[in-house]
Amino acid sequence: MRRPPLPVLLSLALLLLLTDSASGALFTRGPSLWKVTTNSILIAWQTDTPSSGKVLYSTHPGAWTAAADTATGTEHSVTLHGLQPATQYDYRVVIDDVLLTTHLRFRTAPSGVTPFRFVAFGDCGVADANQYAVAARVDSLNPDLGLILGDVIYEAGEAANFTPRYFTPYASIINHAVFYPVVGNHDIITGGGQPFLDAFYLPTNSKDGSEKYYSFDYANVHFVALDGNDYFNADMYDWVEADLAATTKRWNIVYFHQPMYTEPSTHTSDLNLRLYLEPIFVYHHVDLVLQGHNHNYCRSYPIRNGTAVDTAQGSSYHNPGGVIYLVAGGGGRVLYPFTGHDPLIRSAFSVFHTVAVDVAGDSMYVQAVLPNGTVFDCFSIVKRASTAVEASGHETFVGSVQATAGGPVLLSVRKPKPHPFERSAELSFTLPRASQVHLTIRDVHGRMLRELVSAELQAGEHSARWDGKDDRGRNAATGVYFATLDVGGTVVKTRLALLR
Ligand SMILES: [Fe+2]
Repeated sequence: MRRPPLPVLLSLALLLLLTDSASGALFTRGPSLWKVTTNSILIAWQTDTPSSGKVLYSTHPGAWTAAADTATGTEHSVTLHGLQPATQYDYRVVIDDVLLTTHLRFRTAPSGVTPFRFVAFGDCGVADANQYAVAARVDSLNPDLGLILGDVIYEAGEAANFTPRYFTPYASIINHAVFYPVVGNHDIITGGGQPFLDAFYLPTNSKDGSEKYYSFDYANVHFVALDGNDYFNADMYDWVEADLAATTKRWNIVYFHQPMYTEPSTHTSDLNLRLYLEPIFVYHHVDLVLQGHNHNYCRSYPIRNGTAVDTAQGSSYHNPGGVIYLVAGGGGRVLYPFTGHDPLIRSAFSVFHTVAVDVAGDSMYVQAVLPNGTVFDCFSIVKRASTAVEASGHETFVGSVQATAGGPVLLSVRKPKPHPFERSAELSFTLPRASQVHLTIRDVHGRMLRELVSAELQAGEHSARWDGKDDRGRNAATGVYFATLDVGGTVVKTRLALLR
């Protein structure tokens, strides 16, 4: 017997009286979140038998708003409109008027500069222990977004594999984070990728409305997903050029499956994609390109028209003059060894992993993370409004990045040229969120000479200058010192050399 319909507004207490066991239909997929904007989001699910469905959502538990799927069937999707930007909502899914979920949440996209985290990985859909291990790490990284870099469903993008190899392994993530997959070569073997297009809800702003390539905005980032299989698609190149020309976002991040730049492995760099896309990426100031296809990890130097630039900047880039290319194909499928070395590639590891990227205003922090949580590669990109740092004769010295539960903390030091030693140093650091901060100068024995900062600081960029004096105003002697930044118990250090 069917229960009577729930009213539009329900109390939380009433909801909790309803139990899963009372429903005839059960989830076979989802709920999963799609296409988040500043004021809308799509929630999808699938049931084992035909059912009706609706979503209850609220910013204040007890005052639910309902949005119903008008169709009765096994596939359901509901788009919620009129939401507030950068706002967390609780939501529940009701099937045949019976509550089937509890304690789910989503967050709408920020309209401006708000720190957020996304993950990226590819070559993953095998439903084995390695995919689940990477998925567990992704879950613990608590991203807002996920970019899936192709080869989402092995062996051939079969419709029957989407539940066991995508919706089940990522079930606990995609009900609160929004994933944006892109097609790989395996995904298009079956029906030209039609099962991929059927299973996922992706933006349709490509030239032909296909979800094989698309773009979207989140906070101050413009993301572009391309179909690397279709490298002679002139329409796609026309579209991406116009799309990148139109965006006003601070960051441009592009992703697709086949790598334009990779350490030689089972696959080498795709010269067709490079031929067509590199001029577009350079002209339109793409910052980061994420790729898969090789089942390993590698990171390029900043590259401009086939040449590595800014090779002396270390891993803390300020206004790099080229595009950094990452391969992040260690999402689960068996790993590939490297077969050689490309001098354009800065680091390469054949490991299962995910990439986690924190974007905070003009700073971006990229970490490559093993399933056990170890960060095995990291770098940062900081954009300045002008090139004043370089023009004033400063350069970045040692930088240090360390992962924390809430995101990475970066500490870098700028000192005057030409001599690497000077009597003062500017220390800059960026916080992923508001934190209690202690910034001190210590000698090589760990003794504190000077406390520069001891305060609760907001998220974002901060700086402090050490004038070479201790806490009593006395000049410190020539020697090596360490700036030590303690952010809520996480400590990063960077080396200073003082010359008098
Ligand atoms: Fe592939």
